Amino acid sequence: EKGAYEHFMLKEIDEQPAVMHKLVQEYTNEDGSMKIDQDLINAIEDADRLYIVAAGTSYHAGLVGHELFEKFAKIPTEVHVASEFAYNQPLLSKKPFFIFLTQSGETADSHQVLTQVNEAGYPSLTITNVANSTLSREATYTLLLYAGPEIAVASTKAYTAQIAVEALLAKALGVDMGYQEAKDFDVRKELSIVANGMQELVDEKHDIEKLAQKYLAKARNAFYIGRAIDYDTAIEAALKLKEVSYIQTEGFAAGELKHGTIALIEEGTPVISIITDHTIASHTRSNEEEVVARGANVISIVSKDLAKDTDQIVLPTVHPLLTSLVAIIPAQLLAYYASEQRGYDVDKPRNLAKSVTVE
Ligand code: M6R
Repeated sequence: EKGAYEHFMLKEIDEQPAVMHKLVQEYTNEDGSMKIDQDLINAIEDADRLYIVAAGTSYHAGLVGHELFEKFAKIPTEVHVASEFAYNQPLLSKKPFFIFLTQSGETADSHQVLTQVNEAGYPSLTITNVANSTLSREATYTLLLYAGPEIAVASTKAYTAQIAVEALLAKALGVDMGYQEAKDFDVRKELSIVANGMQELVDEKHDIEKLAQKYLAKARNAFYIGRAIDYDTAIEAALKLKEVSYIQTEGFAAGELKHGTIALIEEGTPVISIITDHTIASHTRSNEEEVVARGANVISIVSKDLAKDTDQIVLPTVHPLLTSLVAIIPAQLLAYYASEQRGYDVDKPRNLAKSVTVE
């Protein structure tokens, strides 16, 4: 039920802080220990490489998972688009473990890969919002997203829930393997900080609405740029904007722009830059200057500790590996309002279905 909301997408954006709290409750104990099946932990630790397979937004959540599994659990991780993996399988390691990320648990492209994985006898985990979905039933293990039904075609709360579950799992693995980085990562506290930060951002949604009106309501194309984890967020932010507002949008590695794509920047082209990582902030700032010099309208989404007075969107400070969870909120809101302002069907964009059950 939409309740007071005009669209499910906005309701689902607003629900994200509550989903973070729910995941902390479901997957951790008050003493900080983890509530994740030890058989699953053992099966992953037995592997020499993780293969994350997914489509669309879930693939983008996998890109962030890659950082989390490698940093906290030190397991080499690859992320693959399901429809590519199915027909062009990479050379696998000796002991692969597969993680399927899928909100619906019904995506045909991902299911096709799981079928191949099962035929080969490899162990697998499905992280999904739907208990008893096809991918949940057919994988060896399941972890649920506890995000509540996601009705809008554009995925919002499932993306942040997937990243949070990956963080919880990476923490559990790293602690079990005795890694200091994982022990020091207080996932309960960090996800609560994220939830509060998300709340601040959704409470300021009308500022974002004004930015959408100013920069996106009439735009023909747009760019999201970022580096490292901000690049992962930029790709998801771009998908969100294009799928509901129909503005042609690209998510780009900020440093790669000058190798060709900068040719597309014209007077008034919106370039939205995401900056949360202090090690690369000055570099992305230079890329902002390069596009401003060519006429772009830059909108900066920047962590508080790196922000300047002129930055339009300031993010609350969170753990450096969890910044996607907050940086995506203004991007979801920009997409939502741009779609509404352009008069489109926000919850059911043209040509799209909520779950894609054909290959
Ligand atoms: O149900 P799934 O997570 O497997 O769906 C994957 C994609 O089809 C889905 O994320 C799609 O990209 C969304 N419309 C994005 O908002």
